[in-house]
Amino acid sequence: MERIISNGPKEEDYSLDTSLRPRKLDDYVGQEKVKDNLNILITAAKGRKETLDHILLYGPPGLGKTTLAHIISAEMGVNIKITSGPAVERQGDLAAILSNLREDDILFIDEIHRLSRVVEEVLYPAMEDYALDIVLGKGPGARSLRLNLPHFTLIGATTRFALLSPPMRDRFGAVYRLDFYKEQAIATILERSALVLQIEADEDGIREIARCARGTPRVANRLLKRVRDYAQVKADKVITRAVAIDALKTLDIDNIGLDNVDHKIMRTIIEKFRGGPVGIDTIAASISEESDTIMDVYEPYLLQLGFLERTPRGRIATHLAYKHLKLPYTKAPPQASLFEQQATQEEL
Ligand SMILES: Nc1ncnc2c1ncn2[C@@H]1O[C@H](COP(=O)(O)OP(=O)(O)OP(=O)(O)O)[C@@H](O)[C@H]1O
Ligand SMILES: [Mg+2]
Repeated sequence: MERIISNGPKEEDYSLDTSLRPRKLDDYVGQEKVKDNLNILITAAKGRKETLDHILLYGPPGLGKTTLAHIISAEMGVNIKITSGPAVERQGDLAAILSNLREDDILFIDEIHRLSRVVEEVLYPAMEDYALDIVLGKGPGARSLRLNLPHFTLIGATTRFALLSPPMRDRFGAVYRLDFYKEQAIATILERSALVLQIEADEDGIREIARCARGTPRVANRLLKRVRDYAQVKADKVITRAVAIDALKTLDIDNIGLDNVDHKIMRTIIEKFRGGPVGIDTIAASISEESDTIMDVYEPYLLQLGFLERTPRGRIATHLAYKHLKLPYTKAPPQASLFEQQATQEEL
């Protein structure tokens, strides 16, 4: 099924992503705190004529991690080499990439949590000492040789901070978390995209799309394109509020940007598991989705809205979820745990 909401990149997005990507830090909308910190980091490194510290960017897909990596390289005026966790299969692959870097280059590793442990081990001395340890021969006669690498900057991006190994995390000098964007920031991004793509849209039309974009620039840009199609075929080409509302309805997106998978997740928890707690794998199995997709794409926004809660025993649907689905909130108060019962007895 084609999913407009999924915030992972789809084929058409690769060209869209590049054409709409802001190139300077000043044009990067929102994420003010990250931008401020980056500005200091970049200015200081430039002032000292030093290589930029290693940077880790994390947050849900489509919030602008790759965009930011490109901007950092442009602001520093250095080259950027791009690869991803799954693409670097063996130690030798990484060694080849590293030894081809030049002084001050940026190496961007997307989905860095998917690097295997053996490959990670090559990265540790590279990040720490700019050194590559090569083992010559096998068995007792094996010797290790240390090669010096140019000073480079590693920028790692991940949607799953928790899956990153602690030694890996520790080696980043700066760690930034990207958050969902405010509606106003999304509207600004959409205005710029409409300009670049020469799409006619009025303020209310933009606002309507922004409201349904799940605080995610990639989703916003994708919705803009779909609504444009609708406007072209069904309306007078111009995206007005009415056109946007109709278009989003035909795309099966509700008034706050949730699609039928979001609805299925919440309904499953509420109707099949009495509101939870229920484990993510159980939810995934009962709606035939991948757990990873739910965790990466759907859950973060539902958590952000306060519709779901994550507990050690699984996910719980909150009264806000019931309200949004117009279901009566009948949930009995959760049974007190043994610990709480004991505590109460002691209090008495
Ligand atoms: N702050 C921003 N201002 C303007 N446009 C943005 C911003 N952040 C992201 N975008 C737009 O959103 C799109 C997706 O951003 P990007 O590819 O950087 O996301 P990502 O976080 O790397 O996603 P993934 O985790 O899927 O790789 C880009 O095309 C870019 O145009
Ligand atoms: Mg990316």
